[in-house]
This record gives sequence, C-alpha cells and structure tokens, in this order.
Amino acid sequence: MADYENIVILTGAGISAESGLDTFRDKGGIWEKYDLMELATPEAFGRNPDLVHEFYNARRQQVKEVTANKAHHALVQLERHHPGKVTLITQNVDPLHEEAGSKNLLHMHGELNKARCTYCGAVHIWRDDLSQADICPSCGQTGNLRPHIVWFGEIPFHMPEIEDCLKECDLFISIGTSGSVYPAAGFALTARTAGAETVELNLEPSDGENLFTTKHYGKATKVVPEYISILLRGGIEESGQDI
Ligand code: OAD
Repeated sequence: MADYENIVILTGAGISAESGLDTFRDKGGIWEKYDLMELATPEAFGRNPDLVHEFYNARRQQVKEVTANKAHHALVQLERHHPGKVTLITQNVDPLHEEAGSKNLLHMHGELNKARCTYCGAVHIWRDDLSQADICPSCGQTGNLRPHIVWFGEIPFHMPEIEDCLKECDLFISIGTSGSVYPAAGFALTARTAGAETVELNLEPSDGENLFTTKHYGKATKVVPEYISILLRGGIEESGQDI
C-alpha cells in the first residue's frame, strides 16, 4: 500500500448503474423522466405527499430486485485490507454498499429503506410501501412518516463528521458522480486543499474533473476493482494513465 493513512471515498449513482439502478443526469436518467421539483423537495411533499410516496415506493421496490456489483465489493476489500482508515461517503440512497459489506459508511443523502417521523423524529427501517395512513411505531401518530431522504433545500446528513474526514484524508476517491450537486461536489476541493491526492473513477469526466490529479474513465465494475487492486498492492499511479 502506498503511504496513505486516511482514505475517503465518495460514491454517486454511477456505481450502482450496472446493478440496474438508473442514474439521475445521464440520458434517460431519473431527472429526465421525472420533475425533481414535484418529487424531491419538502415543498413538493407538503403539496402532494401521495405523489412523493408513490415515487419513493417504486424506488424502494426496485432496490429489492438488484444486488451489489463488483465495484461495491471492491470497496469492501479496500476497507478490510487497508491498514489505515477508510471512510465511505455515499450520495446513494440504495442499500448496495451495506449489502456488499461496507461498514464505515455514511449515507449523506439518506436511505430509501428508512422512514422518519416528522412528529417525534424517530427513524425506522422501512422496506415496503409508505403512505400517509402509516403509523409511527415510536409515537403512534398517523400521517407524519416521510422517506428518510435528503431533499433539495435540506441539509445533508453527517456533515460535521464528513468535514473532519476530508480535512484529515490523504487520498480522496470520487466514483460514479457527476459532481453537480453540492456540498458533495465540493469535497474534492476540500480534500485537495488539505493536501490529499484526488482520484476520479467515472464513466466520463465529471463537472469537477480539473480537481482530480488521477483519473480513470470507464464502467465502475471495471475501473474500480482495477484501481483498488493496484492500490492494495501498493502501486504508484501516474495521473491520467489508463490502468
Ligand atoms: P448523476 O446522475 O448526476 O451522475 C452519475 C454519474 O455516473 C455520471 O457522471 C455518469 O457519467 C456516471 N456513470 C454512469 N454510469 C456509470 C458506470 N456504469 N460506471 C461509472 N460511472 C457511471 O448522479 P449523482 O452524481 O449521484 O440526490 O447525483 C448526485 C445527487 O443528485 C443524487 O444523490 C441525488 C440527485 O438528485 C438526491 O436525491 C438528494
């Protein structure tokens, strides 16, 4: 292993694409098919909770039908075999990282398989459909459960912990994200400012491409296992070279 102590990884929808889950901004992606302002804001939920539940119920059903792929599994190998610290931050709301076996994982945009009570604040595992008729198992109130998802205009989860990890990391790896949604899009700059090496593994250059010192473009199931394997063997990478 090269001289890295603290590794921070950020993943986005691209890592789950080959498992069969749509990304957001690619051609045919989720925000091309649906209007995010009608589905992914607190105001949208206030206006039409049934429509928002319907959208997330469909996605909750969909994740039951998919499994983690080689890229998710490669990150588990890194966590298991790296002698230092590995922190995995995901923007994804699917459960594929934890299903693969990742442990030190932060879901900054929430989790599809959880519901939160807006009355008492309790968060519950929720694998089936959610509706306004459901009762919070903690407080017994009806009509206050919402998807445990960070919507546009809301503050992502775990931000203080994430900021601390970025400031102390010496290798930052961004995987399968377009780099178009903040604050996640700013993590590479924070890590680089703190002196970290920055690596992008993506299908194509992201919006923040120039923030990365090393880049490998291709499908996640190919480039992620290859890169992790080199990293675990202690290989030194030249910026921009093919693996
Ligand atoms: P995007 O859809 O914006 O970007 C997905 C990225 O994955 C693109 O850069 C693609 O090129 C890349 N990609 C596609 N297929 C790939 C593959 N097989 N292997 C590797 N890369 C591939 O998704 P995110 O960046 O995750 O937020 O989007 C960020 C946030 O915007 C999401 O968390 C979501 C969305 O609105 C919320 O829902 C709060």
